[in-house]
Amino acid sequence: MIAAPMAPHSNSLPLRILHLEDSTADHELARLTLRRAGLGHTLHRVDTLEGFRDSLGQESFDVVLADYNLPGFTALDAWALISGQPGHPPFILLSGAIGEAAAVDAMRLGIADYVLKDEIARLPHVIERAREVHEARIAREQAVQELAHSQQHLAELTEHLQSSIEQERAAISREIHDDIGGSLTAILFDLAWIGRHAQQTEVCEHAQAATNMLQHALGASQRIMMNLRPPVLDQGLVAAVQWLASGFERRSGVATQVRSNATVIHLPPEVQLVAYRTAQEALTNASKYAQAQTIHIDMADTGGVFTLEISDDGRGLEDGALTKPKSFGLTGLRERAKTVDGWLDISSLSGQGTSIILSVPLCPPPEKDNTP
Ligand SMILES: Nc1ncnc2c1ncn2[C@@H]1O[C@H](COP(=O)(O)OP(=O)(O)O)[C@@H](O)[C@H]1O
Ligand SMILES: [Mg+2]
Repeated sequence: MIAAPMAPHSNSLPLRILHLEDSTADHELARLTLRRAGLGHTLHRVDTLEGFRDSLGQESFDVVLADYNLPGFTALDAWALISGQPGHPPFILLSGAIGEAAAVDAMRLGIADYVLKDEIARLPHVIERAREVHEARIAREQAVQELAHSQQHLAELTEHLQSSIEQERAAISREIHDDIGGSLTAILFDLAWIGRHAQQTEVCEHAQAATNMLQHALGASQRIMMNLRPPVLDQGLVAAVQWLASGFERRSGVATQVRSNATVIHLPPEVQLVAYRTAQEALTNASKYAQAQTIHIDMADTGGVFTLEISDDGRGLEDGALTKPKSFGLTGLRERAKTVDGWLDISSLSGQGTSIILSVPLCPPPEKDNTP
C-alpha cells in the first residue's frame, strides 16, 4: 500500500525524482543531463517493484522516471501501483525503443510522456512540461472540489434560512391568532352587549358600525394568518391551492383555473409546503410580470412523481430573467425543490407565456409482508 501523501512541490525546492532504472550507467546519465540543464533536483534510484513501492510509501516525489523493461516486470506494473493514488506525481517513461504499440498503450493508460534514452537531452524540458500539466490538473481538481463544497454549503444555508422563515411565520401567525384574534373577538362580544342594552338609536348605530369594522379586521387578521402559515397542513394541498387561486383571481382579475387528478393528494407535509410556496411565488410573478389573461395550475401524483405546473399565457421571460441580480424568487424555489429531493423546470417562449413545473418523486408505499 502506498501511504505517504504526495506533498505539493514548491518551485524554490529541488525536484524530488524517483528513478526506476536497473542500469546505473543510464541513471548517472539522467543525473548528468538534469544537472547540466541546471534543474535543481534529487534523484533516487530503485530497480525493483518492491523498492519502488517502498520508496513511494516513505517519501513524496514530484516526478517518476521509469525505464520500460526491467528485470521481471515493466514500467506498466509500476504505473499500476501509482496510478490509483490521488494527486500522484507525473510518470515519465525514460527508455530505449519500446515499439509504437507499447508507446501508444502507455499513453492511453495515462502516462505523462515518453523520452527515448537516445534523446535524453529532451528530458529536462519534458519534466518541466509534465510538472506544469500536473500542477494545472491539481489546481483544477481543487477548484472543482471547492466549488462543490461551497455549493453544498449554500444549499444547506438556504434550507436553514427557509425553515427559519417558516418557523417565524408560524410563530407570528400564532400570536395574531391568540393575541389579536382573541382581543377582537372579546370586543365583538362587548359591542353586541352594548348594542343590545343601548337606549338611544345613535349608540346602537355606532355599535353596529364598530361591529362591521371589527368583522372586517377579523377577516383581515384571518387572511394574514393564512398567508403566514398556509392552511395546507389542515386541509390538504389541493384545497389550499384552490383557496390561493381564488383569492388571487379576485384580487388580480386574471382567470385562474386549478386542475388536479384527485381531490386529495397525499403528500408529506414538507412537500406540501414546498408545493404551496411554489404556487404562491409563481402566481405573484405572473401578476407582477406576465400580463396574462389566464393561468392554469395542474397537480398530479401519477407515475410515482408529484407534479405541480403553473403556466400563464403572458409575455414570457425576457432574456437574462433567471440570472437577474437580486432576483431570488425562482432561485429560491429551485433550492426549495432540492430540499425535498425534487426539481424545478422553467420554460418560456417570448409572447407565449411561462411555465413552472415542480416535480417531486414520491416514496413507494411500504411493501406488504407476504411471508406466511
Ligand atoms: N411569469 C412570468 N412572466 C414573465 N416574466 C417573469 C415571470 N416570472 C418571472 N419573470 C421574470 O423573471 C425574473 C426573476 O423572477 P424571480 O426569480 O421570481 O425574482 P423577482 O420576482 O424577485 O424579480 C423577474 O424579475 C421577471 O423579469
Ligand atoms: Mg418573484
